[in-house]
Amino acid sequence: MSDPEFRQLLPQARPITVADLPEVYAWAPGDRVRANMITSLDGSVTGSDGLSGSLNDAADHAVFATLRSLSDVILMGAGTVRAEHYGVPDGPRLVIVSGRGRFPEHLLPLLPEHPGQVVLVTTEAAAVSDQVRDLVEVWRVGADRVDLPGVLDRLAGQRVLTEGGPTLLGHLIAADLVDELCHTISPRLTGVPVPLLGSTAVPRRLTLRTMISSGSTLLGRWALASR
Ligand SMILES: NC(=O)c1ccc[n+]([C@@H]2O[C@H](COP(=O)([O-])OP(=O)(O)OC[C@H]3O[C@@H](n4cnc5c(N)ncnc54)[C@H](OP(=O)(O)O)[C@@H]3O)[C@@H](O)[C@H]2O)c1
Repeated sequence: MSDPEFRQLLPQARPITVADLPEVYAWAPGDRVRANMITSLDGSVTGSDGLSGSLNDAADHAVFATLRSLSDVILMGAGTVRAEHYGVPDGPRLVIVSGRGRFPEHLLPLLPEHPGQVVLVTTEAAAVSDQVRDLVEVWRVGADRVDLPGVLDRLAGQRVLTEGGPTLLGHLIAADLVDELCHTISPRLTGVPVPLLGSTAVPRRLTLRTMISSGSTLLGRWALASR
């Protein structure tokens, strides 16, 4: 399959290629947490398959891969790892947040090949099975709720990418822990929007850093201002 074609629209208009994406998506000075999400034009994080896969295209995949390649850690809610059947990423560590301490079971057989690559973050109160404790590094951060600022403290000095899902992203933004939202607008309507930030109400203003397009797909980098 040939690479998708892109055009940078902002800050200045110019044709770009996949090879330019690392420069377009270079971390802004001082940033340490960025999110990458895709929604339909009517704001849904899931398409017809109930997952994000039916919203994606080659352009989104190219940016997704670029963002991963520029990151040290992928911070994920356990719900997305389960729903999207995540594997162990090449390169960055996968840090999975589960308040209930429920590690996504499909990952267990993959762990021996990836020692130290996957971490489960949960609370002091959560019951974690013996099998998971034997195979996975478990961080208990918070008494009965996961203390997200505490998690980010443990990841100090590392570039953290979160790919959601919406529940985790809503909590991270509510705690003012996200510096930048990389957001793909998929040229589709769903009619049944599933919100980007789950059920968390987090009014925020954003500033557009870059916008690129590929066909009818729009891909922006937005800086978050704190409240
Ligand atoms: N369009 C996109 O870019 C995109 C990206 C990601 C996901 N999605 C879609 O979003 C859907 C999943 O949504 P979701 O909101 O359930 O995803 P999620 O945030 O990944 O998962 C929610 C689960 O993660 C854990 N969790 C999240 N935040 C937590 C916190 N602050 N403290 C403790 N535990 C926390 C909890 O796990 P426990 O229940 O185990 O405690 C919670 O039930 C799927 O359909 C997926 O396809 C779309």
